[in-house]
This record gives sequence, structure tokens and C-alpha cells, in this order.
Amino acid sequence: MATQDDKLKDIIGHAKEFGFIFPSSEIYDGLSATYDYGQLGVELKNNIKNYWWKSMVHLHENIVGIDAAIFMHPETWKASGHVDAFNDPLIDNKDSKKRYRADVLIEEHIEKIRTKINKDVAKGLKRFGKDFNEQEFRATNPNVLRREAEIKSIEDRMREGLEKENLDAIKQLIEDLGIACPISGSKNWTDVKQFNLMFSTELGSVSGESAKIYLRPETAQGIFVNFLNVQKSGRMKIPFGIAQIGKAFRNEIVARQFIFRMREFEQMEMQFFVRPGEEMRWYEHWKAFRINWHKVLGGDESNYRFHDHIKLAHYANAASDIEFNFPMGFKELEGIHSRTDFDLKQHEKHSGKKLRYFDPEINKSYVPYVIETSIGLDRMFLSVLTMAYKEETLEDGTKRTVLALPPALAPYKVAVMPLTKKDGLPDKAREIISRLKVDFNCQYDEKDSIGKRYRRQDVIGTPFSVTVDHQTLEDNTVTIRDRDTMAQERVAIADLHQIIDNKVSLRNLLKQL
Ligand code: GAP
Repeated sequence: MATQDDKLKDIIGHAKEFGFIFPSSEIYDGLSATYDYGQLGVELKNNIKNYWWKSMVHLHENIVGIDAAIFMHPETWKASGHVDAFNDPLIDNKDSKKRYRADVLIEEHIEKIRTKINKDVAKGLKRFGKDFNEQEFRATNPNVLRREAEIKSIEDRMREGLEKENLDAIKQLIEDLGIACPISGSKNWTDVKQFNLMFSTELGSVSGESAKIYLRPETAQGIFVNFLNVQKSGRMKIPFGIAQIGKAFRNEIVARQFIFRMREFEQMEMQFFVRPGEEMRWYEHWKAFRINWHKVLGGDESNYRFHDHIKLAHYANAASDIEFNFPMGFKELEGIHSRTDFDLKQHEKHSGKKLRYFDPEINKSYVPYVIETSIGLDRMFLSVLTMAYKEETLEDGTKRTVLALPPALAPYKVAVMPLTKKDGLPDKAREIISRLKVDFNCQYDEKDSIGKRYRRQDVIGTPFSVTVDHQTLEDNTVTIRDRDTMAQERVAIADLHQIIDNKVSLRNLLKQL
């Protein structure tokens, strides 16, 4: 049976072989944790962006978008707390020389205990069948209770250590739990140290502290500093949101697992400005909206779960991650954070400019509270590939690899293929493409047998293949083949546009939101 590691390897190999993702500057042996999106990758990525933008901005009359610069005034990052507090607690294993995030090592240990609990539950279910009451079992079974108490005690110690920045206590916890390095298997750890994740460079030709600027580690601050510009120029009334898609940079020390954790990545963030005191209602609202956004893509719903933060970031009063079941297990895909008025207040303090909103409904001026939804575009890309990548055994015993991408996200929507290269069939195929290409990304393919050409479209996730044959020249009909069912149907060329549009339009997803 294929392991989770195998699945990640298969996805990485597939992404490279078919032009989705290449290692960056590969001819120079690559640059770690940086990747380039190839000819199909960029199409899939743009379709994800478009899905996000339309559902967040166009479907909400009170949300608008911006595109702020990557470079920002260096004071921004003092105000936001990133200069002082954007650190990871790192620990090295002296034998493997590998570096880890200390909190991640502990979280992974907790996850192992959770897996044991789930095994106990599964055993109970097997034993008692339909009479099994899972809730009662979890509330009363001594093994489950003991393990839950263990988890709580670990989480409490970790929270206290991180909140008080007591790095010795974090190291002690790792030692007490007997956590070993996954590579060397040894428990020979260094002390835990804090490491700032921002990249810096110099503005112009002058070097020195005053010219030091940072590559933004999140897009959110570009939104905060433009809060009043947008509010005033757009005559926005609270509650309202500002959305943005853009690059962010972090000097991740433990950068691995393909595009899951990169040093240069893209974020899709939205800050929703609300009246103080109403933030929890909006926090719940955005949690529900965002999980639904993922689920309407049609994957298995059990692949998503919420994970509430143990240690809140310096700016948050509530935070939850939407986790996805990646090939490496459940990991953060998106964060929903209640950021209070922290950022705007900090920018007021550091800039000396008022960032307030006069609320005519309550006749009061205040610094709004903020709910943020923040998703990594690259992680979203990986989650989509994970859901879509399938190796199937067909009824006749042959195998096929298929990317069952949500049709609205697929790079090509339709491939048009002349049965042979002769008798005017290529011209007819190109004529069909010229009609369809205004609305759908189309591919023309005339090489090899039709069977091979179908398989070539399956591996890149094209929802439809259209074959032009001699009958087409007589009656203007073609065969259309569905990627998922592999069923073929004879249809009129005049109906093609409608048939394709019904399946691949983004409308299908948007109307479910
Ligand atoms: N503005 C809030 C913020 O940046 P975050 O949890 O640090 O919060 C938000 O990041 C999202 O950005 C994450 O859920 C993840 O999807 C993505 N992300 C963060 N670091 C990343 C990295 N190194 N590589 C790829 N994606 C990353």
C-alpha cells in the first residue's frame, strides 16, 4: 500500500513531469524551499486566485481589493510587532544537525497521542457496532480520559512556556516527553533559541540601519496602512473588508515538504473591519464562510478540520486554523484570526496619524476591530493537487493516473483532437478551438492514438476531450469524452459551448457559497 510519503513524492514527480511546478533555478541544482510554477501550474494558480477573488470581493458588496507594494516603510514592521516578535523557537539535534521548530515537535507528539485515542474509539466501534455511543465512550473510557489529560497537561506547559518566552521550559518539555529526532532517533538536543523570520535588504545604495527595509512577511500590513485611504476614497461603511493577493517572504528555517513551507510564497488575505464588541460574531461568520469555500470544491469533507490556536499570536484574541489532510497529515491551510484593534492602534502610535472611523449609527468614533482570513495560495495549490491526484484501476484491469481537479480550476477546460492528421480534420478541429478559446482555455492535440491522447489529458486534469472524425465533416457532430466517467457522447458542435460551460464555469462553485 502506498504510504503518505509515497503520495507526496508522486505528487512532486507528477507536478514536475507535466509542467505544474519546477524546483527554482534547477539547472544550478535549485534553491531550497523555492519553486517555479510552470505552464500548467500558473493556469491552476490563476484559477484558484480567481475563485478566491470572486468569492471574497465580487460576491461581497462591502469588500474591495487592493494591491499594495511588497516594500513598506520599515517602521511598519516595528509597529506590527514583527521586528520584535516574529520569531520561531528553534532547536537543533546535535547528531543529525537538523533544525526543528520546538513547538512543532511538541504538536507532533500530541498528534501521536490523539491517534492512539482515535484507535481506541475505532476498536470500541468495531466491538459494539451500531450500539456504540462515541460521545459516551470518549467521556468515560479510562484510557481515553488518561490520554486527554496528558494532552491537556502538555498543551498547558507549552502555552505557558511560549507565552512567557521561557525557552528553557520548552526544552525541558521536549526532554520530559522523550521526543527524539525523526532523522537520527537521538534525544541529544541543543537549547531552544528564537530566530527572526524576516528577510531584510537595503534601500538604494546606502547601507546601514536607517536604510534597512524588509520583504513583507505577510500581506496584511499593506491593508492596515491603507485602511483610511480605502475607507475614505471608497466611502466604505463598517463592517467592510479589504482583500489582497500577493507575495510574502519568510526566512523559514525548517522549510520543507514541497510548496507547503516556502521562503517566498503567496498569500490571499482579507481584513474585515468591525465595530468593537462585534468581533466574535464576525469571527464565527468568517470561519463558517471559509470552511464552506473549501468544501464546495467537492473533495472529501473529512479532509478538513478546525484547529484552535493554543498560543495566540501577539495581535489576536481568538484564532483558528482550517487544517487539511495533506499527504504529511493534517496541517494548517488557512488561518482565521480575530486581530482586535492591535494593528491599527499600533500604526496610530508609530505614525502619529489617526486611524479611526466615525460610525454614524452610534454617533461615535473608534478604532475598528479586525477579523482576518489568511490563506497561503501555494498551500491551497498543494491541497487541490492532493485531492485531485488519483491512480485508478479500471474495469478492464488497466491503470490510469488522473487529476480529478474541480473543473473550474483545471488548467485546460477542453482538448480538441482530430482523429487523423488528414482529410481536413485538423482544420475542422482548429475551427472548433477558435470558437471555444474566447471562453475556455483549449488544447489542440493530433499526435498518437486517441487512447493515448485521452490519457495525456487525464494526467493534467482536462475535464473534456473532443474528437473530430469523418462524420464531423458530414453532420457537424463530434465525440465529447468526460474525464471522470470516461463516457463518450456524440453531440452537435453547436452545443459544445453550453455543455462545457455547464461543467467548468466558476458559477457552479460561487452559487454554492
Ligand atoms: N496575516 C496573518 C498571517 O500571515 P500566518 O498563519 O502566519 O498568518 C497565513 O500565515 C497563511 O499563509 C498560512 O495559513 C499558510 O497557508 C500561509 N503560509 C505561511 N507561511 C508560509 C510558508 N512559509 N510557505 C507557504 N505558505 C505559508
